[in-house]
Amino acid sequence: MENSWISLKEIKFVRNRRVILDRISWDIRPGEHWAVLGANGSGKTTLLQLLAGYLWPTSGEVIVLGKRFGEVDLRELRKRIGWVGSFLQAQIPPSQKPLDFIVSGKFATLGIYDKPVASDYEEAVKLAERLECGKILDSTYAVLSQGEKQRLLIARALIHKPQLLILDEPCGGLDLVSREHLLSTLENLGRSPDGPTMILVTHHLQEIIPAFTHVFMLKSGRCRASGEKSEILKRELLSEVFGIPIEAGVENGRYWSKVRLMSPNNA
Ligand SMILES: Nc1ncnc2c1ncn2[C@@H]1O[C@H](COP(=O)(O)OP(=O)(O)O)[C@@H](O)[C@H]1O
Ligand SMILES: [Mg+2]
Repeated sequence: MENSWISLKEIKFVRNRRVILDRISWDIRPGEHWAVLGANGSGKTTLLQLLAGYLWPTSGEVIVLGKRFGEVDLRELRKRIGWVGSFLQAQIPPSQKPLDFIVSGKFATLGIYDKPVASDYEEAVKLAERLECGKILDSTYAVLSQGEKQRLLIARALIHKPQLLILDEPCGGLDLVSREHLLSTLENLGRSPDGPTMILVTHHLQEIIPAFTHVFMLKSGRCRASGEKSEILKRELLSEVFGIPIEAGVENGRYWSKVRLMSPNNA
């Protein structure tokens, strides 16, 4: 299909002679936001790196934001993609101020070594406020809480107005309140008409908030199931993918899950 938005067809990815991803097909249409579920090591981050143009598939076809790999300059394509993942945090100078950090997103992604201009800082202030970081702009990065750091990472990813926002376990290490805060930010982003298509990797059903419409489930490098979330987030599939008996349900639009424990009497 020539006019696909995001589409993977029969993707195989081999690294060090190991098959990491196999027979992956996935179509994402404009307006959809996807959560990706799968056990540790099932290939989630690798899949996202393929979508973001950081890895090249061993075989198969990739179309991202309407552009087919092989026919597009990936550096140009990456400018339209935002990435929020934990690996970035390690590279941040501890003394950096939040606004400089947000602005640096534009230059890192665009590969420009010019000095930022005043309008970049104006945009950074707007983004900081949108992500509820307006009160911490005088701090340095090192002293911020994990939740504040994650919201700044999102602001940094948004400064170049990406059309695809990839979130690789953004709630990892957050306490309950910070997590809810971050999720409400994502919910708002998902509802804004000019917002990016979002792909969220998570281990927790609770994080699949209403903005996320679809779920892609990976098991050992293969797609076990994908589609509308109400079809996917069922106990049989979840139990199979995670390898333990899981109960799941939905309450007020939010999913919950718990491990079904055997009582000692029945064991
Ligand atoms: N840089 C790498 N070199 C070699 N193997 C890797 C590398 N990154 C990931 N892998 C392997 O690929 C598989 C999938 O990893 P990953 O995509 O990170 O899984 P997930 O994000 O689901 O935990 C794992 O078995 C992992 O060990
Ligand atoms: Mg990962």
